[in-house]
This record gives sequence, structure tokens and C-alpha cells, in this order.
Amino acid sequence: MSISIEINKRRTFGIISHPDAGKTTLTEKLLLFGGAIQIAGAVKSNKIKKHATSDFMEIERQRGISVATSVMAFDYNNLKINILDTPGHQDFAEDTYRTLTAVDSVIVVIDVAKGVESQTEKLVAVSRRRKTPIIVFINKLDREGKDAFDLLDEVEQKLGLKVRPLSWPVGMGQSFQGVYNMYEQKLSLFRAHSKQFEDETTIIEDLADPRLDELINERAAKTLREEVEMVESIYDPFDPETYRSGEISPVFFGSAVNNFGVKELLDCFTQIAPTPLPRETEERFVAPDEAKFTGFIFKIHANMDPNHRDRIAFLRICSGKFERNVNYLHVRNNKKMRFSNPTAFMADKKSVIDEAYPGDIVGLYDSGNFKIGDAITEGEVLHFKGIPRFSPEQFRYVLNTDPMKTKQLHKGLEQLMDEGVAQLFTKDINGRKIIGTVGALQFEVIQYRLKHEYGASFEYEPVQLHKAYWVHSTDKKAIDELYERRRRDMARDKDGKLVFLAESAWAMQVAQENHPKIQFYNTSEL
Ligand code: G4P
Repeated sequence: MSISIEINKRRTFGIISHPDAGKTTLTEKLLLFGGAIQIAGAVKSNKIKKHATSDFMEIERQRGISVATSVMAFDYNNLKINILDTPGHQDFAEDTYRTLTAVDSVIVVIDVAKGVESQTEKLVAVSRRRKTPIIVFINKLDREGKDAFDLLDEVEQKLGLKVRPLSWPVGMGQSFQGVYNMYEQKLSLFRAHSKQFEDETTIIEDLADPRLDELINERAAKTLREEVEMVESIYDPFDPETYRSGEISPVFFGSAVNNFGVKELLDCFTQIAPTPLPRETEERFVAPDEAKFTGFIFKIHANMDPNHRDRIAFLRICSGKFERNVNYLHVRNNKKMRFSNPTAFMADKKSVIDEAYPGDIVGLYDSGNFKIGDAITEGEVLHFKGIPRFSPEQFRYVLNTDPMKTKQLHKGLEQLMDEGVAQLFTKDINGRKIIGTVGALQFEVIQYRLKHEYGASFEYEPVQLHKAYWVHSTDKKAIDELYERRRRDMARDKDGKLVFLAESAWAMQVAQENHPKIQFYNTSEL
């Protein structure tokens, strides 16, 4: 089969939300529709339960479960849909950011009662930077929540998205009666906990149809007509191209747990969502339909089980056809590699695959060869762009407590950083090492793993830091001046890039004022 047919069948996306908004539930309903699972509850929540936040082993165990659900593929309407899972726990936000580099679109789930929450803001900001097409699903309509118009305003303001409702709720909470699908002009009526997968949709081609008053009662029908009219007058007609270019975000309403509004979402998604998109490299754009295979590693998952200390590197196929047991180039190491057991993930199952196409995610068993961002190709030297590192928000000094094991400590630190567990900075002035993380949990994970996997022992020492800023300027003199004046605050990241470690937001502001020719970035592209 030709590559372009395969490419056109693929839709690769991620679901993002603040914890508890309903991401896991929605994922599961989509898999049920796709027939990838047969019963609800089959997808283990990768959600790290709140009570477990002090117990990182438990968290790792749950993360272990989530490897199996890292990618969930299913077939629907002759399409191959890949859902990339994203950890909800904010301490693993970096994992989520990186996963977002491997998708072609995202669905944002928002709780109708809670509205836009902090984690959602951060994740949408990352998606918008990359102009990823975004669909919004407003969930839990079976509960009382915010007024739909207010919520749309909130989404526009807090997330910076221009929205366009494509479905509209009929009531909410106790009076929730269904969802009117504006895209197809169909009305779906709600029955709590309905397990329906057959089409129960009542078709109302014209909202003026008096049948509507009978179906949902006169008052609700009047409100629906008024609100739909208002939507049509406020928002421009929907154009899928503006969605695919990341300018407009269609909005759907529903209740994932009741399986309501989910089919509307899925049907529309499959019609409008982008097929695998081209990817930018430092050298050139890579189009998916190029004959030669290329891909990059966006996530590495280490197994904490001492009996199975393998790692799985997740490869996003960007172009061409990937094949099992064929020699490919690992660009950074300039080494040929062959993969005898590349794995595909199907909900709760894993299987060895012979080939994969752009948009697919393949798991590669790794004994420490990969780091995040690595390119694999048929021979061409390419460096994929757009895999950012974000400034950590928590920092600690590393104090080696066993000088006999210095080598092990350095090796362990290097490998863990390659996996993307945390970031390592080395101060220029004294060579001291600082670990920076997004969440406090990683500190425990690192200490535990370095001891158990590498035999190194060390302690943390507190360090008062606000954020790390990567430093850029076209004026070399300006960089030299910053370096001279702020030497004790300068460090290198693990790739040797110069970083300014700001003690406080205020210190950052002062540095910017004193060094106007310098750009301080709190993200870096790998
Ligand atoms: P997450 O992955 O985004 O963290 O959320 P998850 O799907 O786990 O959902 C969080 C909670 O919200 C779950 O309840 C889930 O059942 C509930 N939920 C999801 N969709 C809806 C909805 O449409 N309406 C209502 N009313 N609730 C919804 P829980 O009590 O935390 O877990 P569980 O014991 O029910 O699994």
C-alpha cells in the first residue's frame, strides 16, 4: 500500500486537561467507540492519585502501568487513530510537554464547573506555541456548572484561543437534556449512564420544527433556539482550515462518564483533524510523504523494576516507512542501529510490529543509547526542532557523599538527564552541580534511582533559585559583559549552553534592565 494512503488514515493527537477534568474517562470512551477495549474500566488511570503524592514508588508503579497506555491506537471509520497519553500529575508536566511535540492536534478537556484551571493554561500555552490545532471538550454537563457563554469567554481569555462552538448543551445538571450538534444539525437526547453506542440521535434539521418542543419541552426548546441563534450571530461560520492552522478552536459539550457528546466529538474530529504534519528540522522541513524514513525520540521511560531494567524509547515516525530489522542511522551517535522488537501499543496490549508509518508511535527497547530529541533516519543527518526544555522551578545542589563512586554518580546523572527526568546545571565559578526539576517528586526519584541503579550516594543541599534562563544575544560583547558581571550566577546546561540562574523574579528583572541586549529565555529547544 502506498505511503500516502497510510498517512491519510492517521490521526495522532493528545488529550490534555487539569487533573480530574475527565481525560481518562474521555480516552476510555473513545477507545470503546473504536472497539479497542470492550468494557469500561479497562484503561488503567494514569492519574496519580492525590493520596499517593508522598510515595514516589507508588507513583512510579502507576507510571509503569501508564507505559502500556502511553499510546492507544484504534481504528474508527477506516482511520487509524493514535491517542498519546499525557501524565496529569503536574510534577510530570515535562513529560507532557514533550509528548505534545509528537502529536498533530490536541483535545482539551475542561470541567464545566471548574472552568479553565492552571494546568490547562500551561499545556495550552505550549500547544499554541507550536500552532497545534486544538479542540475543546467541555465535560460534566450532567452537573451544574458555569453558563456556556461565560465559559466560552473564559476559554478565550485565559487560554488565548478563538473559539467556535460546534455543539451546544440543552440545559445543564438536573435539567441537562442533550447536545445539539451544530456541525451536523442533529439533536442527541441524554439518558444518564446510557451505554448506547448505537445511533440514538434524533434528527432535527430545522430548529423551528415543532417536534423539538415535544422532545425537550417548550421552554428548553425556546432557550435552545435563542442560544443557537446567538451563537450563529456571534461566531463566524466554522471553517476546518482555520482550525487546522491553529487559529480557531471548535468547542463541544458533553458528559464523558455518561458517554454523552463523545460521539459527536469523535465524528467531527475524524473529519476535521489534521493528518500527520510536516516536521521542522535544523536542516529542512520533513514532509510525511517523503520516501525515506525519519523519526525522533520524544519520551524515554525507564522501568524501576530491578528485574527488568530496560528503558523504552518512544519514537514518532515523521516520514517514510519504518521497518523492523532494517539498519537505520542514530544521528547523534553516528551509529547504525537495527530494531528487532519494535513495539506498537494498542490500549492495554503491546505487540511487535513489522512496519509503521508517519503519525505512528513505536516503542524501542533501549539500553541507554537514546536521549530525548534524538533523530533516527535512513542516513540523512537531521536535527528535529521544537522539543523544548522548560526552566525548572525547583533546584537543589548535589553533594557527593561517596568520592569512591564519583564516576557512577556522573554516569547516573547523565543517563537520568537523557531520559528527561530533570535538568542538570553546572556552575561556572566552582563546578558545583545543581539539579532542577518541575516538581519535588523527581528529587526523590533521582536519589533512589542513583543509589539502586548506579550505586552512587549523594545528598541534596538547598539552593535559593527562582528560575534558569537560557541566554542569547547577537552581540557577543553583551554576553561577555553579563558573564563578567554576573559570574556567580552563570551556569551551563548539560549541552554546554550558557544559563543565567536567577535567585528571584526581581533579580531577573534587574538583570534584564542592566543587560538590555540580552534575551533571557526560560525555555530552550533541545
Ligand atoms: P482525569 O483523567 O482528567 O484526571 O479525570 P478522570 O477521567 O479520572 O475523571 C475524574 C473524575 O470525574 C472521575 O470521578 C470521573 O468518573 C468523573 N467524571 C468524568 N467525566 C464525568 C462527567 O461527565 N460527569 C461527571 N459527573 N463526572 C465525570 P472519580 O470519583 O474521581 O473517579 P471514579 O471513582 O469515578 O473513577
